Amino acid sequence: MKKVLITGGAGFIGSHLVRLFIRKYPDYSVYNLDALTYAGNLENLMDIQDHENYTFIKGNICDAAFIDALFAEHKFDSVIHLAAESHVDRSITDPLAFVNTNVIGTVNLLNAAKKTWADNMDDCRFYHVSTDEVYGSLGDEGFFLEDTSYDPQSPYSASKASSDHFVRAYANTYKLPVVVSNCSNNYGPNQFPEKLLPLCINNIKHSKPLPIYGKGENIRDWLYVIDHATAIDSVFHQGKNGDTYNIGGFNEWKNIDIVRLLCDIMDKKLGRDEGTSQKLITFVKDRAGHDMRYAIDASKIKDELGWIPSLQFEEGLENTVDWYLENEVWLENVTSGAYQSYYDKQYSNS
Ligand code: NAD
Ligand code: TYD
Repeated sequence: MKKVLITGGAGFIGSHLVRLFIRKYPDYSVYNLDALTYAGNLENLMDIQDHENYTFIKGNICDAAFIDALFAEHKFDSVIHLAAESHVDRSITDPLAFVNTNVIGTVNLLNAAKKTWADNMDDCRFYHVSTDEVYGSLGDEGFFLEDTSYDPQSPYSASKASSDHFVRAYANTYKLPVVVSNCSNNYGPNQFPEKLLPLCINNIKHSKPLPIYGKGENIRDWLYVIDHATAIDSVFHQGKNGDTYNIGGFNEWKNIDIVRLLCDIMDKKLGRDEGTSQKLITFVKDRAGHDMRYAIDASKIKDELGWIPSLQFEEGLENTVDWYLENEVWLENVTSGAYQSYYDKQYSNS
């Protein structure tokens, strides 16, 4: 019986991954370790919280003694590590929080796994879920490949790059069985509404301004969150020890175009006249050091593991809008309190 520790399982991607594993692998014991920061929310997992193969543990990966004790108690044989501070704008205002969770927290987990697996690493695996942002920013041409040099440009991507390096250093130095994946921008249900798409969905709903940084010409590659979860499943079960897999949606969009598309979809769903929501678009001061373009070449995971995205983008975006419109209480809950004061400060000049 596998004992899989998923960190950050109450967050956006983590909650979809936990659900997939609980349902698909009833013979695994799945432990979800999450500190429940502003981005973690157990409401994301209400439908599976009573499953017999699921255990939630509230705790902080920055607490080394707690992490050591947890591994000593449960003797996990696998870790899928997603817990992180994940928003670039927050990393610009508070880089140290990103160093603490993303770098030190990751090293705490690596140390605990190394200790626990010291006598026998067979059938063990430490999987680090990372981002394509570690590769830096592209111009008009080209794609990130698994052997593209790291060139992180924001405090967020620098912290993720650092944690990727530590994971690979533990593989080289201590022979820890590791695997890393670097994925493009995710979208879908349960994403905290500080990231571009859920923020715009929420603002369109309330007829509030849609803040577009700079000229809106920056490009991102978008992948539906459940497709990321199935890719993680493939890498976890079939990936080669020591390897890296890039995961992407083959789906590049300029920010301004994706927001316009979202406006049009929502006008239809909300019964508003065509063009109503586009009037909310407001160009605001650019993000400091804003990466121009991310684009993933996901051929390796396709050719070696047979994974491809399952959803067309328009379908995924419609599902996402429907989810946010149907889950008003979730949205109200997460946009109250601490988040609201951050949001007000961030966008008071827009
Ligand atoms: P998220 O911010 O929605 O969730 C992060 C989760 O980690 C939250 O539940 C939070 O409570 C938990 N957490 C934060 N600090 C913690 C700590 N110190 N101890 C324990 N738990 C803690 O993030 P997400 O968008 O779901 O991203 C998950 C992972 O995937 C991250 O590692 C991120 O870098 C990576 N990633 C995200 C994207 C994306 O587009 N969102 C793309 C590629 C990779
Ligand atoms: P975001 O969702 O924060 O993801 P990331 O920075 O990790 O790519 O931002 C996606 C893109 O949208 C990015 O180019 C920044 C831009 N953006 C805006 O124009 N306005 C916003 O309010 C936000 C949050 C992002």
